[in-house]
Amino acid sequence: MCGIVAYIGPKQAYPILLKGLQRLEYRGYDSAGIALLNGGLILFKTKGKVAELEDYLKDKNLKGTIGIAHTRWATHGEPNQTNAHPHFSKSKKLAIIHNGIIENYAALKKELTKRGYTFDSDTDTEVLINLIEDIQQNENVSLEEAVRISLNQVIGAYAIVVLSQDNPDMLIAARKGSPLVIGVGEDDYFIASDATPIIEYTKNVVYLEDEEVAVVKRGEDLQIRNIKNRKKTPYIQELEWNLNELEKGGYEHFMLKEIYEQPRSVKDSMRGRLNAQSGIVSLGGIVDYEDKMLKARRIIMIACGTSWHAGLVGEYLFEDIARIPVEVEYASEFRYRNPIIDENDVVIAISQSGETADTLAAIEMARSKGATILGICNVVGSSIARATDAGTYTHAGPEIGVASTKAFTAQVTVLTLMALRLAKLKGTLPKSRFMQLLNELEALPEKITKVLDDHGITERIAEEFKAASNFLYLGRGYNFPVALEGALKLKEISYIHAEGYPAAEMKHGPIALIDENMPVVFIAPNKGIYEKVVSNIQEVKARNGKIIAIVTEGDTTVKDLADYIIEIPETEEMLVPILASVPLQKLAYYIAILRGCNVDQPRNLAKSVTVE
Ligand code: AGP
Ligand code: GLU
Repeated sequence: MCGIVAYIGPKQAYPILLKGLQRLEYRGYDSAGIALLNGGLILFKTKGKVAELEDYLKDKNLKGTIGIAHTRWATHGEPNQTNAHPHFSKSKKLAIIHNGIIENYAALKKELTKRGYTFDSDTDTEVLINLIEDIQQNENVSLEEAVRISLNQVIGAYAIVVLSQDNPDMLIAARKGSPLVIGVGEDDYFIASDATPIIEYTKNVVYLEDEEVAVVKRGEDLQIRNIKNRKKTPYIQELEWNLNELEKGGYEHFMLKEIYEQPRSVKDSMRGRLNAQSGIVSLGGIVDYEDKMLKARRIIMIACGTSWHAGLVGEYLFEDIARIPVEVEYASEFRYRNPIIDENDVVIAISQSGETADTLAAIEMARSKGATILGICNVVGSSIARATDAGTYTHAGPEIGVASTKAFTAQVTVLTLMALRLAKLKGTLPKSRFMQLLNELEALPEKITKVLDDHGITERIAEEFKAASNFLYLGRGYNFPVALEGALKLKEISYIHAEGYPAAEMKHGPIALIDENMPVVFIAPNKGIYEKVVSNIQEVKARNGKIIAIVTEGDTTVKDLADYIIEIPETEEMLVPILASVPLQKLAYYIAILRGCNVDQPRNLAKSVTVE
């Protein structure tokens, strides 16, 4: 959601800023803009894609070695050129880019209006830059001081960068609740919402903390103070990701690349943590908290969207093999519902981006009640990773496609490792069973490769059902969350209405929807309550619904009933979600492509949802 990129150094800023905006496109946005300083401040913006901005800038003079650029995901005011960022202050001597929401913008705007300010846009952002200018002028303080004072008056979330005509060798950046990373180059600085625009130039980064204000000056060391003016020491970290992970590498879309990366990403999630031969499973990041987890009254998993689905699989895993009670909550509900929670509870926050605002807020709430907070994140150094007491990274590598794929299977892999570790410590599994599960887990990447190589069956199914208006996804037990995830994938990228249900719930309502036009996807491996699922398939068939079933290799019963089957290799029941979600990702992908949808950046969606 929203992309910020800024540069100061000896190089020309425009090409760096443009490339940075392109790298941030995956986050989701509706308009883009740029401001450069070369004597005077120049500012350009357009509605729509970064390519449209690039087009618009073709014949412009874009010289300058300092600049800021932005992709906006509208919250205040419609997505048009005027509301796009950057925004000028009244004097046009300051320009700002902002991610987040200034919640008290209306009160601040009223005050500024009384003082003679007028506003071109409907944004909360334009209010903030004028507040900064007003303070700078009336209190006669430096720009840095004015930013600090104004941020003390702001309620809400922000990541901002301010560029000033009178300070041509300086950028000011600040954050609260929205991410901001500063890349420290040889003789230049990069500021961005995440590391993707920076990685090409330097691996040394500083993650700004909440309420910190960074002053980035040409040729000088990075200075960080908090908004109360307390000096902070910048902590430089090294980025783990590589540039080629941010490119499509021959695939037509990031989503397809990420689907096909899963044999590797699942392996990476297990690397150094699982040794099936020696019966070892361990997660370094949470060793000190294992005891807490074992003694916890219950574990509460909090997450949103796909990560919430991973949490649901986690609930089955933890309860099934480690016998620890688990609740899974939508972070957005949990944070507002006054839950009963105290120091006997362990919360596990699950998030690919590590920046989801609802999940972060839920963490804060649980912390205030004394719970221990652990994290499962993909993005190293992200806000959630830093806000938790301890945690485990999924190591899936950067996920650029807005629809989460490899991050989901990596989350489920990590949850499986965690459940197995706890089961071992608690002694809830006989040794032979434990060893069997470790062996099966280790064999998964190879089986994912087999699932991916489906001889075009998902493409044929996509062709047949590309014009459908609705889809139903049904599964039971471990595969109920897979049904939810399959439905979410389809609706996100193809805009077909899809619902996931526990298969047995169908007869309590959704069965009314079934006719010859309704495709129903069953996740029906030969495990668990297979026969019951077969009965549900019969019920759909009796009403002429179209049946697409994911079955275990060699299955004949469902094959006779279904219109289409997709086979997955034999595995343990609890590992089926990882294998079964892969063809569902592919199905959603191919249907979306056939419908002409933008799979990597579906409409209205953002990769990291940094607002409530
Ligand atoms: C997944 O395909 C979605 N785009 C979305 O539901 C996502 O999983 C959700 O916003 C949570 O994001 P996070 O994992 O980065 O916290
Ligand atoms: N609230 C600001 C706006 O609507 C910033 C939105 C964003 O994060 O892109 O312009």
